[in-house]
Amino acid sequence: MRVAKGKVLEVGIGTGLSAKWFEGASLFGVDLSKAMLAAAKRRGAKVCVADATNLPFKDGTFDTVLLLFSLRVIGDQRRAIVEALRVGGEAMVLEYAPLPRAFERFGLMVYGSKPLDEHIFEGLDVQVEKVAGLFVLYKVRAPGPRLGLQERVRGKCPRPRRTTS
Ligand SMILES: C[S@@+](CC[C@H](N)C(=O)[O-])C[C@H]1O[C@@H](n2cnc3c(N)ncnc32)[C@H](O)[C@@H]1O
Repeated sequence: MRVAKGKVLEVGIGTGLSAKWFEGASLFGVDLSKAMLAAAKRRGAKVCVADATNLPFKDGTFDTVLLLFSLRVIGDQRRAIVEALRVGGEAMVLEYAPLPRAFERFGLMVYGSKPLDEHIFEGLDVQVEKVAGLFVLYKVRAPGPRLGLQERVRGKCPRPRRTTS
């Protein structure tokens, strides 16, 4: 799956496992867990500790912001989406698809069976795609040119550089 282009930020990158599905030209990752980030760094991502709801980057720093299986564990999901769209041109949210009811009855993979509450995307342009029958990909954009809340930089993340590919 190559849908992420240019400068890519993965929010809640964990150990950096999923990012290979979204081969971007330049991968940057943030997470709350230093241990997770150490593993993601070994996989080649540039990383720093940061909270999804308060990203230490200026408006429009990235082309694409990925939230791969991380949005559902973030406390304020709407704010995480708004932050993603502030620092990036678009956000790609990948989550597990809801499971058929029969699976739920046996208590299997209940983690994957709960869909995202779609009110978090209210007022935003969202395209929803099923991926391989197992996942749901939400491609999210701000309705205007940018959400443009405010330019701000907090924390100590290295500055991502523009790459040529
Ligand atoms: C289920 S893991 C997904 C990891 C990775 N994206 C993947 O697909 O392998 C969720 C990750 O989100 C991180 N996380 C949770 N809340 C966060 C927050 N507020 N800000 C940044 N990262 C967060 C967790 O530390 C964890 O590494």
